[in-house]
Amino acid sequence: MNKLCRLILFIGFLSWALFQISVASVVSTGDFNKDFFVIWSPTHVNTSDDGHTRSLKLDQDSGSGFASNDMFLFGKIDMQMKLVPGHSAGTVLAYYLSSDQPNRDEIDLEFLGNVTGQPYILQTNIYADGFDNREERIYLWFDPTQDFHTYSVLWNLHQIVFMVDSIPIRVYRNHADKGVAFPRWQPMSLKATLWNGDSWATRGGLDKIDWTKGPFIASFRDYKIDACVWKGNPRFCRAASSANWWNTYTFSTLTSVQNRWYKWVRKYHMIYDYCQDNERFQNQLPMECSLPKY
Ligand SMILES: *[C@@H]1O[C@H](CO)[C@@H](O)[C@H](O)[C@H]1NC(C)=O
Ligand SMILES: *[C@@H]1O[C@H](CO)[C@@H](O)[C@H](O)[C@H]1NC(C)=O
Repeated sequence: MNKLCRLILFIGFLSWALFQISVASVVSTGDFNKDFFVIWSPTHVNTSDDGHTRSLKLDQDSGSGFASNDMFLFGKIDMQMKLVPGHSAGTVLAYYLSSDQPNRDEIDLEFLGNVTGQPYILQTNIYADGFDNREERIYLWFDPTQDFHTYSVLWNLHQIVFMVDSIPIRVYRNHADKGVAFPRWQPMSLKATLWNGDSWATRGGLDKIDWTKGPFIASFRDYKIDACVWKGNPRFCRAASSANWWNTYTFSTLTSVQNRWYKWVRKYHMIYDYCQDNERFQNQLPMECSLPKY
């Protein structure tokens, strides 16, 4: 190898390394107008002048929604949300990551409204390679319509952790080595939509939307996206570099404190777990149900 050739290789390596550091992770701007676009009904989306707060509206004319400009492969995403207050029966606020592919991957949080004074349900679900049927449901330990609370997803090579105000409510481990599907190749965009789900959402569809109580409005603010922006090559996002901090060993399992909270949620707030629904799966529970969560 001559000197010039070595120099070129070296420069190539250097720019690759710099590229890794500079673009692998992103800290979002905090401005909804910069990081997101409206995917459904601009007339039902209201953003504050500084771009830091956004609301979605549902009325008889339409629901509404927005999505991130970028797609991501692994990261940690936080969003503060305040749900539709009062009579919210039949409304569904979905906050999710989706790859929008035929065999799609998806990480879902769905907030199912209720009649005044009755509790919301937070339903979570995971699609991997196009298959879902992994619902879990909890009641929250606070009224989600009174204040903003932080709803987070940590998604890395090892696990997916759903969190509410930093408390883990659900863990889905990567058991791909044992043949369990895990979202790990398809980049996903971040979305929020507010819509009419009254055929199923509240008490299995018994409580319908009461349009006289509308319009129904949910609000969002102070999000933080610390994730690997998709540039067409999964290698950058799968590396456990310091830029991709979410992939490092520290975030491969829950901490012992998180673990205690997680058990508390499951003991006192869980109302449905697909892994305990023998009837639905006719005693053939999905494989991940018998594998460790940590
Ligand atoms: C938009 O939000 C602001 C407060 O953030 C509110 O004063 C205004 O009425 C809202 N506009 C619409 C059309 O909902
Ligand atoms: C709504 O309230 C009823 C009665 O308390 C409860 O059974 C149900 O789980 C609540 N949530 C939803 C979304 O149906």
